[in-house]
Amino acid sequence: MWNKLLNLLLLAVTIIIVGITPVASDEDLEQFAVYSKAVNDIKFVVVTDFTQPEIEERVWHMEESDAEVDIYYIADGSRLIKYEDSSGDQITLTAPGEFTQITGFSQVNDTTILLVDSLSHCLKWFDVPSSSTSLAAGSCNSSGHVDGELLTARFSTPRQVTRNNQDGSLYLSDSGNNAIRLLAGELASTMITLDDSPHGIYYDNRHKQLYVTTTSRFIRINPATNIVTPLIESTTVGFKDGGLNWAQMNSPFEIKKIARYVILVADTLNNRLRVVNTRADTVSSICSSDDEDLTSIDKCNLYQPLSLMRYKSGAVLIGGNSSEMKLLNYVLDRPTPVPFPKPPMKPMKPPTTTKEDLSGSTSNTGSSPSTTVVIAVSVATVGVILIVVIISLSCLLYKRASKSRYVLELTIDVYFDQLNL
Ligand SMILES: *[C@@H]1O[C@H](CO)[C@@H](O)[C@H](O)[C@H]1NC(C)=O
Ligand SMILES: *[C@@H]1O[C@H](CO)[C@@H](O)[C@H](O)[C@H]1NC(C)=O
Ligand SMILES: *[C@@H]1O[C@H](CO)[C@@H](O)[C@H](O)[C@H]1NC(C)=O
Repeated sequence: MWNKLLNLLLLAVTIIIVGITPVASDEDLEQFAVYSKAVNDIKFVVVTDFTQPEIEERVWHMEESDAEVDIYYIADGSRLIKYEDSSGDQITLTAPGEFTQITGFSQVNDTTILLVDSLSHCLKWFDVPSSSTSLAAGSCNSSGHVDGELLTARFSTPRQVTRNNQDGSLYLSDSGNNAIRLLAGELASTMITLDDSPHGIYYDNRHKQLYVTTTSRFIRINPATNIVTPLIESTTVGFKDGGLNWAQMNSPFEIKKIARYVILVADTLNNRLRVVNTRADTVSSICSSDDEDLTSIDKCNLYQPLSLMRYKSGAVLIGGNSSEMKLLNYVLDRPTPVPFPKPPMKPMKPPTTTKEDLSGSTSNTGSSPSTTVVIAVSVATVGVILIVVIISLSCLLYKRASKSRYVLELTIDVYFDQLNL
């Protein structure tokens, strides 16, 4: 009873806080903006004035260092670069000729990075403090499809690797074998075989879902059940924006989830960044290299984008063509729901305790529990009525009825998430 009342009150407080949170202002961003465009609930702004690393080949993958702040690792073809963002200093970690083409990597701990040497069909450990490389899985220059011990396993043009932070296992897109491989402990296994070649792979650690791009498709896999859900229904390459049942992509590569319902996809051969909204069930495009009949952000000229990296909060760095990295800022054009606080857990009391004990640690001296409950219910009712009045008033005053409903829906979503309903 008490927990329920407390939950109700906390929900009410959350609704009020969300209700009065101002919609984020874009003015600061606007000053640096070159192009901007609103897609569904999100405003995207392309910012070009930032120092960028000196890149020699195409940028296949980038990651913020897990161990050091302000440090980014960047794979541009045959090199792994360590880039210090504030100073712009960069050092090449790998030796020349050591790798044929690094298309993906993942930090497995503070000192070790697992690198995918795609054209050599093998995976290598890279020890950052000593800059030394050792074979991790497969056999370099020998392709095949073999499961088993990491060093006896064989891969064929593996592309990208993504880490499950919970158990430390890694998912690998084994593009030549049309397979998703699982690397767990000392073993490599085939998690699932697809009818198309997997490219980019991204594990959403929060929602325990795997996102995969293939030559023509964008799918979600639940690793617990191996159930595949197509996010775009088309199975042919092409370019179409619109509903998920209509949209088409052409050799999409990296994937980055930036909000609960919004996923960015680097649509390489369409020279565009695609915005997949799984709430509105739509695919939109930004940053095209095609100049015709498009609004300004669509002309920001992405040439074969490959990699997407979370670059400080509210921005994504887009890599691909060596000469043109783009920094994309975005603003969610609605208030972000405040995380719902968990009600404090009270220890369970054995049934033999007295009624006074059951009423908890409140300053309840003398009044019987039933009176307390009646008072609490009255207070809660008055509170809820007040909240409803406040919300209705703010809706009327600010003419934001639809937005508030949306916020309320989102908040209640979060609330039920917390209660595991
Ligand atoms: C990091 O991971 C590598 C590869 O699994 C392992 O050899 C190394 O001992 C680990 N280092 C630390 C500090 O945990
Ligand atoms: C793989 O082949 C390249 C040239 O084709 C060669 O330079 C390299 O040493 C080979 N690596 C291994 C491990 O055999
Ligand atoms: C980079 O893009 C330009 C056009 O913007 C293109 O001419 C050039 O070939 C591209 N470079 C690479 C390495 O793809």
